[in-house]
Amino acid sequence: MKLLWLCLGLILICAPKRGDAHSHSEVSQISGEWYSVLLASDHREKIEENGSMRVFVEYIHVWKNSSLSFKFHTPVNGKCTELFLTCDPTEDNHVYTVEYDGHNVFSILDMVPDDYIIFHLINHNNGESFQLMELYGRGLDVRSDIREKFVQLCQERGIVEENILDLTKVDRCLYARDGGAA
Ligand SMILES: *[C@@H]1O[C@H](CO)[C@@H](O)[C@H](O)[C@H]1NC(C)=O
Ligand SMILES: *[C@@H]1O[C@H](CO)[C@@H](O)[C@H](O)[C@H]1NC(C)=O
Repeated sequence: MKLLWLCLGLILICAPKRGDAHSHSEVSQISGEWYSVLLASDHREKIEENGSMRVFVEYIHVWKNSSLSFKFHTPVNGKCTELFLTCDPTEDNHVYTVEYDGHNVFSILDMVPDDYIIFHLINHNNGESFQLMELYGRGLDVRSDIREKFVQLCQERGIVEENILDLTKVDRCLYARDGGAA
């Protein structure tokens, strides 16, 4: 009898990992702390010093209504400043919108909720648009195969390697995080 319960337990634990479709319950697993690792754009100025998209994530919160809240830090006049954004879901699965430096539409391209997540964003502002791609890790860095995957996803979208910034080599405002993780 004990063995039967053990088997049943293992099946329940392992079953949700199957399949690639991101259900709501899977997306809810992206709640919690993250670190920005790589940041890329086909409009480099946006992610360079003083660029509006040079933002470093601290955490994501997934609400019951499927909206996502992000806490970021961004350098303003050389000082790390908190930035909170709430992003609303769209009718398309895993596609969200948020107003910030224009109108943004983004999607989750790939994720393993306890390891890494890759976002692709398109910004529209005054008739112009650009793309942004972000790689977040649960830790300060991610494995090299995940970095390589990100570079490939960028290249598939026309973002050249020189427009991919390695944020582990710059000031990511780590000291400004809650609890000052560094
Ligand atoms: C979902 O709930 C959060 C928290 O109450 C709120 O900020 C957000 O605007 C809500 N989203 C929608 C689409 O109503
Ligand atoms: C960024 O802004 C600061 C403060 O306004 C300025 O001193 C610095 O030169 C700017 N850096 C770049 C690369 O534009």
